[in-house]
Amino acid sequence: MSKLVLRKMAQEHVYKVLFFLQSAAFIAFVINYSQKSDVVFAPVRQSPPVRQSPPATTAPRECKCIEATIRTAFDAAAVCKDVLESRGKISNCTLADINRRPGVVLLTTTNLAFLDVTLNMLESIKRTGVCVNTTVIAEDKKVFEQLRMRLDGDLAYRVLLTNSGEMDVIEHPRSHGSQYYGLMNKRQAYILALLQEGYEVLFSDADTFWFRDPFPFFEGDFDISLIDSVNPFGVRSGKSNFCAGFVYFKPTNASLQFVKAWVDALDSNKKKGRYTPDQNVMNGLLKSDKPVYVKIKPLDTNIFPYGPKFYDLLAKKANYSTVVMHAASIRGHEAKVTKFKSSDMWLVNKTTNEMLAEST
Ligand SMILES: *[C@@H]1O[C@H](CO)[C@@H](O)[C@H](O)[C@H]1NC(C)=O
Ligand SMILES: *[C@@H]1O[C@H](CO)[C@@H](O)[C@H](O)[C@H]1NC(C)=O
Ligand SMILES: *[C@@H]1O[C@H](CO)[C@@H](O)[C@H](O)[C@H]1NC(C)=O
Ligand SMILES: *[C@@H]1O[C@H](CO)[C@@H](O)[C@H](O)[C@H]1NC(C)=O
Ligand SMILES: *[C@@H]1O[C@H](CO)[C@@H](O)[C@H](O)[C@H]1NC(C)=O
Repeated sequence: MSKLVLRKMAQEHVYKVLFFLQSAAFIAFVINYSQKSDVVFAPVRQSPPVRQSPPATTAPRECKCIEATIRTAFDAAAVCKDVLESRGKISNCTLADINRRPGVVLLTTTNLAFLDVTLNMLESIKRTGVCVNTTVIAEDKKVFEQLRMRLDGDLAYRVLLTNSGEMDVIEHPRSHGSQYYGLMNKRQAYILALLQEGYEVLFSDADTFWFRDPFPFFEGDFDISLIDSVNPFGVRSGKSNFCAGFVYFKPTNASLQFVKAWVDALDSNKKKGRYTPDQNVMNGLLKSDKPVYVKIKPLDTNIFPYGPKFYDLLAKKANYSTVVMHAASIRGHEAKVTKFKSSDMWLVNKTTNEMLAEST
């Protein structure tokens, strides 16, 4: 188990990002998927070799920096060296760092109730040194403003306001289907849109905590990669119960067809006034190979544990080097924050109310 070292805050660095501020951020709404079953311990796998990345973009000899807030697609040739090499205040990433992982997007969504949890995840990612083009979809205007205010100018992030209807700013219980699952069930369409643009997408709920770089685990021949809470690593069976909260999608034909069917099924339920848990629908499709067989790479739950398993391993002082933990099955904002704090994994100083007060 990695021991979390709480480091001193990043130096107060004020960046003057001149050209193109691709802002951003990301978040994931947090939701716990129930996964109680015990998983057979599997040996720790060696990380596969790190993906070969193309050389960093070099800045043009000469460029005209335009002071602008226009958000535009990345065009390395038009970006000045100082912009290319300046570090994002929250991500600690330069554009050159981000550009070393081309074609990959980290996606998360959030609402105001999970602003702090989302920022906690971003801070954990920063500490791993991972730099990835990140899209954070804000499900309400308040969280959108907060994220824009905090992440603007940091080139690792792109913060977008949802285009499929704003949601409530508060946390709702599961029993409030149209808000609770309503929120969850919007995410598949964002994933689909990115896949259709040809991106590989790592969707992460906002209640994850990153200890190490997960990307080396997404090597190999598969359509999607995710956690199966029932089966030991590497074995897929009819009993598999996959978790939809941390999933790597490759833009393959099978993934596209599967995610499209997932979106369609949720939409059609919604039209009938039903808010089916997205994860159940996903598992139903995967189990019946509908509309196509999807090649899955299951992740080892010893190193990609969900909440209870993570704390169980921690209590047993099990010697696993956690990559990413997902606070699934620890239900509700307060419970998640309390748990994170109990294991030195709460890295934000301010409550959401304090953050809101700052901006007024
Ligand atoms: C937390 O607060 C301390 C003390 O005010 C500050 O130095 C540090 O930067 C803060 N950490 C974060 C992650 O904001
Ligand atoms: C930011 O990244 C640089 C280069 O990797 C590293 O030297 C520095 O310690 C990092 N700063 C923080 C606050 O993580
Ligand atoms: C990041 O991904 C978005 C699509 O989500 C794309 O428009 C943008 O150009 C990418 N940025 C970089 C720096 O690659
Ligand atoms: C993927 O689908 C496209 C069009 O739907 C088809 O042309 C292509 O051959 C398919 N690729 C594979 C590997 O099945
Ligand atoms: C944990 O595993 C590492 C690497 O396999 C090993 O070097 C270390 O001694 C182990 N620690 C304990 C306490 O078993």
